[in-house]
Amino acid sequence: MIKSILVVDDDDQMRAALKEAVERMDYRVVMAEDPVDALKKIETENISMIITDMKMPRMDGLAFIRVARKKFGSLPILVITGHGTVENAVEVMKEGVCEYLMKPFSFDSLTETIASIMARTCHKKNEVITDNDYIRNLLQLAGNVALSDMTVLILGESGTGKELLARFIHKSSRRSSKPFIAVNCAAIPDNLLESELFGFEKGSFTGAAERKTGKFELANEGTILLDEIGEMSATLQAKLLRVLQEREVDRIGGKEPIPVDVRVIATTNRDLQTEIEDGRFREDLYFRLSVFPLKLIPLRERPEDIKLLAEHFMKKFSVELNKNVSGFSEDAVEFLETRNWKGNIREFENAIQRAVLLSRTDLIGKDDFMIDSRVSESSTISGSLKDMEMDLIKKTLEDTNGNKTKAAKLLGVSVRTIRNKLNDYGKNVPVA
Ligand SMILES: Nc1ncnc2c1ncn2[C@@H]1O[C@H](COP(=O)(O)OP(=O)(O)OP(=O)(O)O)[C@@H](O)[C@H]1O
Ligand SMILES: [Mg+2]
Repeated sequence: MIKSILVVDDDDQMRAALKEAVERMDYRVVMAEDPVDALKKIETENISMIITDMKMPRMDGLAFIRVARKKFGSLPILVITGHGTVENAVEVMKEGVCEYLMKPFSFDSLTETIASIMARTCHKKNEVITDNDYIRNLLQLAGNVALSDMTVLILGESGTGKELLARFIHKSSRRSSKPFIAVNCAAIPDNLLESELFGFEKGSFTGAAERKTGKFELANEGTILLDEIGEMSATLQAKLLRVLQEREVDRIGGKEPIPVDVRVIATTNRDLQTEIEDGRFREDLYFRLSVFPLKLIPLRERPEDIKLLAEHFMKKFSVELNKNVSGFSEDAVEFLETRNWKGNIREFENAIQRAVLLSRTDLIGKDDFMIDSRVSESSTISGSLKDMEMDLIKKTLEDTNGNKTKAAKLLGVSVRTIRNKLNDYGKNVPVA
């Protein structure tokens, strides 16, 4: 599939130049004249990278980058800055921007930068890695169901790759060039979830100052992922059932239903049978959703995948974090193979990421995985361990340019933990 790059710039000439570069590199270009327009397009256009100016109408570049980061996490961003905005560069890098180019720049340096970002971040992105027979079969089944428009229910413990599988189905379907829209039903309060899914008309309730398009409409001709469907309230379950039956949605305050052509994929880590027995989930909705159930197994039942995934994530983070890590020591491999991984591939991936960050040689050792216990058992640890912990926090803060939120994420602890620890040690580490 051809990758799409979003160009955001209010200057017509600059936009045209960027467009030419992107197209010459055989990527599809999507253009936006300002960040507000851009954010809408990211939702619907399956974008692989953003190139953005800093000074733009309606929203400035920095604010745009912050919103994009928050909403679309890992999407790589290339910033084009003018002379007056050099100071911004530091600020911008702190927001996790991949690279910036100073105006004026040559056509070659532009294409080189784009190529290197795409190679770094889009390489093998979203690939389902496995050497396990069960998962291989599951992928085959998923590939088959992808060809139809059938509703799919993906089951599995948290972190087992449910969303990845949903994306795989979308990409393998005839809908692949159309939107893939994910809605996390657990993260949105119930009263908001309805308008999020179905939208509302202007003036349909106090505060509805403008019409809002729902996710079902945004996903038209594409795929909608209803994550954690088990968390939906009874009222919404009834409304969703109607959408699945009638293939149309009712905007809140709308006069008539709007037909939608959307493939629905739902996920849950709950046992829906039990939920039904306990009266928390509608059985008729369950039957609609579970036409084609796909169950992911936990990582501890996929021993042959440990080494493969470890290599995969090691390479990925080695590039992303600018480290020269190339392998694992024997005791590190043993550690990875014997742990329980309750949080499955998500926890595994985070552990490798931290180890890559911490590793001081090109080989990841067992010690590089010890951070969990070091940080969480801090109340009882000895002086030298405390020093090690402090070293770790400082080192991580250096790597994140002092960004505590990012450091906390990398270390797998809360921002408050980091703050408390910095206070506890009474050290004055320069932080943002
Ligand atoms: N087979 C795989 N190969 C490579 N990466 C994988 C694989 N399975 C999962 N991942 C990665 O593991 C992480 C967790 O996967 P994903 O978000 O799809 O899981 P999930 O089941 O939706 O988790 P949650 O229940 O927490 O929402 C993601 O970063 C995903 O890319
Ligand atoms: Mg998920």
